[in-house]
Amino acid sequence: MVYVAIPVALLCLSCLPAALAHARVTNPPIRTPGAAFKLACGETSFNAVSGDPTGHIEEQEPVNAGCDLTLCRGMLFSDQPAKNVLTVQASQAMAMNVDCTIPHGGPANVSLIDTTAGGSGAFIGSFLSTFDDFCPTTEPAPANQTNLQYTLPDAATIGNKCQTPGDCVVQLFWATPDFSQNYYYCIDVVMAAVESTTPAAAPATTPAAPATTPAAPATTPAASAGNAPAAPSKMLTSVTGNLAAATGQAAPTSKTSSNAGRRRARILWF
Ligand SMILES: *[C@@H]1O[C@H](CO)[C@@H](O)[C@H](O)[C@H]1NC(C)=O
Ligand SMILES: *[C@@H]1O[C@H](CO)[C@@H](O)[C@H](O)[C@H]1NC(C)=O
Repeated sequence: MVYVAIPVALLCLSCLPAALAHARVTNPPIRTPGAAFKLACGETSFNAVSGDPTGHIEEQEPVNAGCDLTLCRGMLFSDQPAKNVLTVQASQAMAMNVDCTIPHGGPANVSLIDTTAGGSGAFIGSFLSTFDDFCPTTEPAPANQTNLQYTLPDAATIGNKCQTPGDCVVQLFWATPDFSQNYYYCIDVVMAAVESTTPAAAPATTPAAPATTPAAPATTPAASAGNAPAAPSKMLTSVTGNLAAATGQAAPTSKTSSNAGRRRARILWF
């Protein structure tokens, strides 16, 4: 019982500064600060982000040279737990939940960012969603901001980007002109590698999956926002399993199925 009580107390301590909060992506998990970030951006920046996960980059000054505040507030992939990386597909319907704790208004947008481009990264395609007045001061935040729906760019637009965890994030960028504050929230995403891992052997099974896959994302967000990735991920897992079997790369059958099961369990967990 004692061991239960202590972690709860620690959690609550880290929740206290959230009273200063402005807006927060509550789901899916966003990038969090860690040792690599502290090293790259400095102690002041680290303490600011740790103390207020919803804060703006202006309160992180001063920062070390080479710390890119305008990409994920400087937070780095190497600090993120692997389970926080969403496995996604091109054209997938997505959702994020936003808690407008202290409304400020101002424009905001959601985009897929190539973090390997350096600096603030590079946009992949166009904005996935834009708002003229985000977390407005004049009225309660509309439902399409607190339960924000967007669709990832199509396969042609993404190309061979986002194949490796850490390469791409979905970033919510919000600026509040009235307060001169800039907010960046990042969700790590990686493309489910169907075609790229497929040698010559598999074209017979590959076309089958895309035929049914688009149907799932279209209906999922309306039914239950936030669970959107479940249907396509499941489809994809079974495709991946078939490919592994077809290429005969995994020798012991029991290992193949247990790996597939583990993959399925992990992906469905999102
Ligand atoms: C969000 O909903 C409002 C109406 O409440 C609408 O005017 C606006 O265009 C919508 N924006 C997006 C990005 O869906
Ligand atoms: C995107 O959001 C930023 C930050 O608020 C803003 O400066 C920019 O004008 C927005 N662009 C569009 C097209 O919405």
